[in-house]
Amino acid sequence: DFNLETNEKGNLTMGGIDVHELADQYQTPLYVIEEDRIKSNYKRLYNAFSSHYNDFKMYYACKANTNLSIMRILEKEGSGIDAVSPGEIYTSLLAGFDPSKILYTGNNVTDNELKFAVESGVKINLDSISQLKRLSNIPEAQGMDISFRVNPMVGAGHHDHCITGGPLSKFGIMEEEAVEVYKMAKNLGFNPVGIHTHIGSGILDPEPFKLAVNVLMDIAGKLSEYADVVFDFIDFGGGIGIPYTPEESVLDVNDFGEKITDLYKDKLDEYGLGKPTMCIEPGRYIVGDAAVLLTRVNTIKQSYRKFAGVDAGFNTLLRPTMYGSYHHIVVADKPFAESVQKIDIAGDVCESGDLFARDRSMPNVGEGDILAILNAGAYSFSMASQYNSRPRPAEILVSNGQSDIIRERETFSDVLAKQNVPMRLLR
Ligand code: LLP
Repeated sequence: DFNLETNEKGNLTMGGIDVHELADQYQTPLYVIEEDRIKSNYKRLYNAFSSHYNDFKMYYACKANTNLSIMRILEKEGSGIDAVSPGEIYTSLLAGFDPSKILYTGNNVTDNELKFAVESGVKINLDSISQLKRLSNIPEAQGMDISFRVNPMVGAGHHDHCITGGPLSKFGIMEEEAVEVYKMAKNLGFNPVGIHTHIGSGILDPEPFKLAVNVLMDIAGKLSEYADVVFDFIDFGGGIGIPYTPEESVLDVNDFGEKITDLYKDKLDEYGLGKPTMCIEPGRYIVGDAAVLLTRVNTIKQSYRKFAGVDAGFNTLLRPTMYGSYHHIVVADKPFAESVQKIDIAGDVCESGDLFARDRSMPNVGEGDILAILNAGAYSFSMASQYNSRPRPAEILVSNGQSDIIRERETFSDVLAKQNVPMRLLR
């Protein structure tokens, strides 16, 4: 299950290293990321599509994890980047991505953010007519290649917050206005060469994807016919889920890749769209299962319920509190042990919602034990905060028995770094 590896002592290992060693060396809470897993996830998904349609590109959605080293790994694999903010564009450039391989899909962006994107030379994917008009006021943007995000009125996702297509979504332009919007872009001197959608995140069912591909291709067909758009690329966004519970099964990406590319090719033929680049923007699938969060149990308490209190909280990993997400948790010195109790695993933040698990079936857990919270590679560190004035944890990259600090643990000074106390309060 979950690709867990152990050593001769039966202890959980990451990159060939006993996680207790990592916890002792680098302290807890600690994010531990496996380099090889990132690479194999990337390759598996890339091959699943490119073996059926060779003009295929993946843009890693770096919001899932913006660690520079992880981004370097993916740059070397040949990935592009889906960036959503100037900060993500900046980070991607620093990680070595060529601007031509960065697609900026902002939402409710300011004029300054648009200027930043234009100056950085990345590709710009627009989300509204307002953005289009404001982009046309930037002299350096004249004649640019652009694309639009469309709401295909199909959505899916592991939680309402993560459904980005359909009648409640704030994202994208509507099918009904698409022809007019692309014509407007041309009249403003732009070169609209792409179309994009992203229907949601954490999807294990291929059906909504297929629906969205169908709808987007029909819209592309219309745009070709009524607005004379010639497509360089068509981008179906990210969203491919990973199993978080032991009951969920992995999506068969080979089958998925084949079905989606078949659909794509059929629709290209149907509408005579030529051979535009097919793109997807996976985040979670690439990094989600490549990391664990190590945390140490400091308190076992029996009150109305039984609690194991740990030294991480929703400041470190927000998903369980934010979305009620399940993250599988194992005891590092016996990851496959039978469950003997139901227990709440609680963090160290001063809020009742700060729980990693409620009534979780677990083996014996004692004070001092190391727990590994699985699938902590995506939307984990990137959503961490300093709430309760707690410094954010370190990130360690492991590969073949070697470990490197790729982000140092913060200190109190980091938490206080941007504060100023006016002189009058010091007198
Ligand atoms: N492309 C766009 C335009 C996106 O907005 C996203 C994610 C992706 C690609 C990548 O989606 P993925 O392949 O990772 O599902 N914080 C939530 C997930 C929010 C996803 C936001 N957009 C979570 O922890 O589940």
